[in-house]
Parts: sequence; structure tokens; C-alpha cells
Amino acid sequence: MRKNLLLIPGLFSLFVLGSCHTGTDPKLARVKHAIDVAQSQLELSSAEFDSLPGFPRSLMPKFKVVDAKDWTSGFYPGTLWEAYRLTGDEHLRAEAEKFTARLEGIQYYKGTHDLGFMVFCSYGQQQRTLHDAHSAEVIVEASNSLISRCDSTIGLIRSWDFGEWNYPVIIDNMMNLEMLFWASKYTGDPKYRDVAVRHADLTLKNHFREDASSYHVVSYNDDGTVESRGTFQGYADSSAWARGQAWGLYGYTMCYRETGDTKYLDHARRIASFIMNHPRTPADLIPYWDYDAPDIPDAPRDASAAAVMASALFELSTLVPDKELGRSYFDRAETMLMNLSTDAYLAPVGTNGGFILRHSVGHLPAHSEIDTPLNYADYYYLEAIDRYLALRGVAAQEL
Ligand code: GLY
Repeated sequence: MRKNLLLIPGLFSLFVLGSCHTGTDPKLARVKHAIDVAQSQLELSSAEFDSLPGFPRSLMPKFKVVDAKDWTSGFYPGTLWEAYRLTGDEHLRAEAEKFTARLEGIQYYKGTHDLGFMVFCSYGQQQRTLHDAHSAEVIVEASNSLISRCDSTIGLIRSWDFGEWNYPVIIDNMMNLEMLFWASKYTGDPKYRDVAVRHADLTLKNHFREDASSYHVVSYNDDGTVESRGTFQGYADSSAWARGQAWGLYGYTMCYRETGDTKYLDHARRIASFIMNHPRTPADLIPYWDYDAPDIPDAPRDASAAAVMASALFELSTLVPDKELGRSYFDRAETMLMNLSTDAYLAPVGTNGGFILRHSVGHLPAHSEIDTPLNYADYYYLEAIDRYLALRGVAAQEL
């Protein structure tokens, strides 16, 4: 079904094994099938939403469609860009540009820390694909908006403006730092990077427990001392919410890539160890929505957490000097990716509202988005596929 296939430059080279043919490699055959499913699903959903405002976010069981200010607004355009790069499907590229343009005004929005998700997953992917100046300008402006949320005494970017907390910072916020590193590299101005590094350092100090699991929400007093540690979307204040562990793993892996500071690498390794050795991990490695959910083994799984973890572990596998350890991260991520790419999680074409993966959890304590597709599960799933193919030394058009 794919057409006009692109040559995708490999991101990594550690495990380059030479090109393989899907006929002789069942893992590559499974990935090829997943890309075909993604292409078909995105053709369906983009046709449905082409003339409607907003972005598809989930099924609950009806479509949840969100506007540009929703924290997930960048994922659907970003998924279209990823799918375009994997398939060369020019129609998907046109849709990607269309949906990305819907986010133009959000660069000036200062009401959330989620600007990294919203802008770097959409305009960031557009810039990565087209190398266009306009996307770069939008990303820099969004970075200005994001650093405006950093109080100079507290030293972290404030996450939310709602709730009873004095100054809430959530582990998810680590993901928004990638845009700031990019903005400093692009502009040559270190101010974005400086905010990102301080935020990462203070999060490392205050967000993590002895076992490297993280709290979801840490709130700060005005003098920078910790007001409280707890959760919002997890099972309990003391529990390990699965997606939070995934955000932390991905965030510190990315911080090491961007800075070369080994304390971030060490921390990413500790989080990976927590995840990979957790006794309440199911056989297929797709985590329950919270590692401490009381109804395990009947608790819902979170495919979104698995997709983020797999993508992060692929990258971490390239960054650790210990080759054996790197291989263990790669193997783990590969197994997770293969399991996500079975009928248990991958949607049959024409179902699932056009989303690619099934069985994620948004906000269980709020009874919201339980066992549903989520647009960010799809985004990180395609990113994981892209990283996997690069590590295998296989271009998508060879599949
Ligand atoms: N950033 C919100 C979430 O992970 O659900």
C-alpha cells in the first residue's frame, strides 16, 4: 500500500545488522504489518477529521476531540508526520501539514507546561521533516512561552495553574524540556537550556524515591522548598504510576543525549532497572496502569506507557557504554514493540476510531479514558518503530 517511499536516515548505529527482508525476518514482517495498519488507520481518521475542528484524542467510547489548548493536541499531527516518514504517503504529509497548522497560535499560550508536547511533537516533527524556518520560529516562540513559567527562585517550570497546590510540578514535565534544548541549539542562546538543566536537576533531587520510582506531583513553596509529594493520575501518593515512570525514563535519557552529563545517564539506568525488574510486570511486558494497582492482575494495561518505555529504551540502548547492558535495553524494547504489534494491542483496520493501538489508560482515578486508544500511545509507538528500524539498519522502504 505504501508509495513514494523515502529513504530514512538512521538515528543510531550501535546495533546495525545490515538490511533484512521481511520474508525471512518475522520481527520485521510484524513491523511492516504495523506500519501498514498505521497508514490505513490514519487515512481513515484524517479523512474523518479533515473538515472538523480539533484533534482526535481517544475513544470513551465516542471520539474525544480536543482543541489546540489540550495537552495532547500535538500528538495527532506528530503521528501523521511520523507515518509520512515511514511510508512516503504524500496524502499523509498533506494531512500532517494541515493538522500542524491548526496549532499555529499555541506558541503564544502561557497557560500550561505542556507546550513541549503540543508544539515539539507537531511543529518539531514538521521541522525535522521539512527543515523549514517557519516551524523553527514557532518552536522558539513556544520555548519563550514555556520558560516564562519558570519561577527564578523555585527554579522549575510550573506545570499546572489549577488545583490546590502552591506550585505543582509533575514528572511529565521532563518531556517538555526537549524543546528547550532544541531552541538553544537553534538560536545559540543558552537561556532555554539553562532552564531545562535546572528543572531536570531539581526534579532529580525531589521527585524520586530510593528505588528510583517517582512521585507524580511535587509541589513547591515560594522559597523553593517542597510543599508536598503525591499523585494526581496514579493509584496513590506512594504508588508508581506507570506512565510517570515512562516519562521519567524518557526524560532523563533525552537529558543525557542533550548534555552528556552522566548523572542523567545514571538516573535513566536506575529508572530502567526499576521498570525492568518490577515483580508486578505482566508476561507480555505491557505494564498495568499503575505498578501498585490493587487489582493486579486484573488491572487495565497501559499501552501508552509501554510505547514511551520502548522508545526510550531503544535510545538508552545506544547511550550506555556497557554493550551488554545496551543489548538488554534493546532486547526489552524489542519485545515490548513486538507485543504491542500483535492483535492483542494493534487495532484491526477500520476499527478503533482510526487509532493504531488499543488498551491505554488516561486518568483512571477520574474514571476517564480507561482501556481506550490514546493519541500519545500512537505517537510514541511510531517513534519506537522508527528507532527500532534505525537500530536494525533497515530503511522502511526495504520492508
Ligand atoms: N501528561 C498527562 C498524562 O501523562 O496523562
